[in-house]
Amino acid sequence: MTLVAASPGYALRNHTDYRYNLLMSKQTNSFNPAQWREQFPALQQEVNGQTAVYLDGPGGTQVPQGVISAMSSYLTQGGSNSGGPFLTSRRSDAIVEAARAAVADLLNAQPREIAFGQNMTSLTFSLSRALARRWQPGDEIIVTNLDHDANISPWLLAAEERGVTVRWLDFDPTDCTLRLDQLPDLLNEKTRLLALTAASNAVGTIPNISQATQLAHAAGALVYVDAVHYAPHGPLDVQAIGCDFLACSAYKWFGPHTGVLYGKYELLEALTAYKLRPAPTHTPGKWETGTQSFESLAGVTAAVDYLAQLGEGNDRRSQLRSAMQRIKQYEQQVSQRFLEGITAVSGLKLYGISDIERLDERTPTFAVSLDNYTPQQVAARLGEQGIFVWSGHYYAIAVMERLGLLDQGGLVRIGFVHYNTLDEVDRVLDALDDLA
Ligand SMILES: Cc1ncc(COP(=O)(O)O)c(C=O)c1O
Repeated sequence: MTLVAASPGYALRNHTDYRYNLLMSKQTNSFNPAQWREQFPALQQEVNGQTAVYLDGPGGTQVPQGVISAMSSYLTQGGSNSGGPFLTSRRSDAIVEAARAAVADLLNAQPREIAFGQNMTSLTFSLSRALARRWQPGDEIIVTNLDHDANISPWLLAAEERGVTVRWLDFDPTDCTLRLDQLPDLLNEKTRLLALTAASNAVGTIPNISQATQLAHAAGALVYVDAVHYAPHGPLDVQAIGCDFLACSAYKWFGPHTGVLYGKYELLEALTAYKLRPAPTHTPGKWETGTQSFESLAGVTAAVDYLAQLGEGNDRRSQLRSAMQRIKQYEQQVSQRFLEGITAVSGLKLYGISDIERLDERTPTFAVSLDNYTPQQVAARLGEQGIFVWSGHYYAIAVMERLGLLDQGGLVRIGFVHYNTLDEVDRVLDALDDLA
């Protein structure tokens, strides 16, 4: 089936790609992914003679050479546990310190407000237990059905243990936007916590978390933000958001498998952490259970430095702000191309925001279904052509339940990040069109 051009931009795609890329790089502040792709060895991967197309970023991104080198260098030079009076141990201490400073720059926080852990899920479980110690029977918390289960189940379990009522903030199934207009009705003087996502890992929606935080704070509730999906797609600033806690995972922003927890220092310090008796008594150390993965933390700093060099500025924080703004702008070009392109694919249905005037409200993560195929069949067929996409619920089970798709195999998720090119958008569009 031939793909019908849906817009002038789309019409350009088959014959003048190099000119199109040049035009795009000018329009997007000289941001051209070809310049950065070279730093990612995995992007050279071939499947059946074709270069692989990694559209599985929401499940985990590839890493640049700088991250690989930093990790390997830690292991090559000799490592040790932290806190010892000798070279290798001091090196580990320095690596932890550098990673805290790097992530603090990424989030606009203080290094002492950053704790590391195995992943976002385990950090959230840990913090939920600490917060729940303060809850009383009859208290209330709010979770949303737009969230990944890692920002739901820990709170449900803690609430159950403490006799706390759980209220659910809904999303509008027609465009998958969070019903923030309903939040005031859910909040009251008994609300202890609002847990919500900075972006949906299933349908890409970016809710207005600053507004939600203001409403929750006005009612006296704390706010826990899951920024795992949002983090690789745009600037983050915990001061501007005003949230009390925010968690993310470095493997979603071009780093290794390490979780990050931000919390306002006084709050983290006041809470009782579930920790071993000889472990540090102060923040952030008291939140870091057991021995950290020092090689991963070396990679975390390198991932932040990779991002920083995509931007401009006199210090790393400014470079990161500029880089993430550039990434956001470039990804909006990618989203536009994809959204215009899918209008020509028959039998394809998109769940989420499709309006190209509203790209600020979504990441380039698209959940779709294709008539006559299960999501698993689509992912498998694309996989044979070297196009990596996920199918199913991706742990966003509340989203799939609300859309009535949990028992239907969920959806196909096509997720772009800044290293994906416009040619790759076209490749997946062509592959979908061939199936349709
Ligand atoms: C939005 C979102 N939240 C939380 C998680 C869980 O993160 P982790 O694997 O670091 O526990 C994921 C993982 O896919 C996610 O996409």
